[in-house]
Amino acid sequence: SEDEVVNITYVLRDGTERKIRGKVGDNVMFLAHRYDIEMEGACEASLACSTCHVYVDPAFSDKLPEPLEEEDDMLDMAPALKDNSRLGCQIVLTKELDGITVTLPTMTRNFYVDGHVPKPH
Ligand code: FES
Repeated sequence: SEDEVVNITYVLRDGTERKIRGKVGDNVMFLAHRYDIEMEGACEASLACSTCHVYVDPAFSDKLPEPLEEEDDMLDMAPALKDNSRLGCQIVLTKELDGITVTLPTMTRNFYVDGHVPKPH
């Protein structure tokens, strides 16, 4: 129902915006995957990677639960960490988050914005 709708905007790595109608209970990473948005999720939300890293609109930071210690540990390994960094797979949509924007960083540990994946040394 309309009551359940949570609008979310994803800002892609090239700066384009994708507006999605999610719903209460949706996981921000799995929702992105459902719409072919290029958020990685190498560990399938088990808090063992940092590839689902996003920047959360600071206006909504207070509306998210505090990160678990495991999330903070993983974020510490993410490149281009900022104050508003979170892991997309740990964000579950609530009505309070209606209108939120999450921005994909230009790089993750596996992916660089030009599509060049560095070879292991
Ligand atoms: Fe690995 Fe989110 S998908 S921590």
